[in-house]
Amino acid sequence: MTEPLLQVTGLSKTYDGGPRKVTALSNITFSVEKGETLGLAGASGCGKSTLARILMRLVPPDSGSIRFQGQDWLALPQAALRKQRKHMQMVFQDTVGAFNPHATVTSAIGDPLRIHNIVPATGREREIHRLLERVGLPASYAVRPIMALSGGQRQRVAIARALSLRPDLLVMDEAVSALDVSVRSRILKLLVEIQRDTGIACIFVSHDLAVIRAVCHRIAVMEKGHIVESGVTGKVIAAPQSAAAKQLIEAVPRLDILHEDIRNAEP
Ligand SMILES: Nc1ncnc2c1ncn2[C@@H]1O[C@H](COP(=O)(O)OP(=O)(O)OP(=O)(O)O)[C@@H](O)[C@H]1O
Ligand SMILES: [Mg+2]
Repeated sequence: MTEPLLQVTGLSKTYDGGPRKVTALSNITFSVEKGETLGLAGASGCGKSTLARILMRLVPPDSGSIRFQGQDWLALPQAALRKQRKHMQMVFQDTVGAFNPHATVTSAIGDPLRIHNIVPATGREREIHRLLERVGLPASYAVRPIMALSGGQRQRVAIARALSLRPDLLVMDEAVSALDVSVRSRILKLLVEIQRDTGIACIFVSHDLAVIRAVCHRIAVMEKGHIVESGVTGKVIAAPQSAAAKQLIEAVPRLDILHEDIRNAEP
């Protein structure tokens, strides 16, 4: 049997800095296969972002292991990590804070292309245009300042920037939560398309089961730092076993119509 793209085993994290200890993650275990989208769902404070940040090595866990692309991801020294990080990219909820406020679309996408030497300098402009088209923005947007874009446009640029490094895993932490419903739908469709074309895997963090249902093959439901239920998305939603999953479903009264089933829709 081949190894999954990502294997997380026994991850735990307690925040100890403030007036009280908070156990954000307890013994988290899951895997993601190449090309798969795993939804991480759960109420506010259940530990989703902590998990995403640990995966990106922005925060160290207290214990547990992460194997990514067959490597001991947590053991990679900083110099190796800087090189390997391009394989795992993250898109955040906050589209303003994710960018240098003085950046243009060209510098936002072009800088990582240059730093990681993805394409030769002469091909960089063409690559930026290709990536913009990939996320449904006209090439003419390349010259615009990032802060002159709408939230939905900026999130498309954030996705283009993440894709520019040709990662194998994209971690999206509430990346569409702040967008209005129609922009959100368009970005979710785009994500499914990109996956179909590139085979990229995705961890899709959301408290919104309607969104998870639209794009995720499998779901892991979290509650207070634990994964309390996991399985094929449709099955978990049709017959939830845990109180946490039932609550998430109740929070979206019109699960059936809020987002059409994007993944299974005819193109
Ligand atoms: N830097 C930190 N220091 C102390 N406690 C923290 C820190 N970051 C998160 N926490 C706590 O850890 C727990 C998990 O937080 P986390 O942000 O991972 O949850 P979340 O599921 O992403 O929530 P949300 O849906 O609101 O984004 C919460 O109780 C939170 O208050
Ligand atoms: Mg969060």
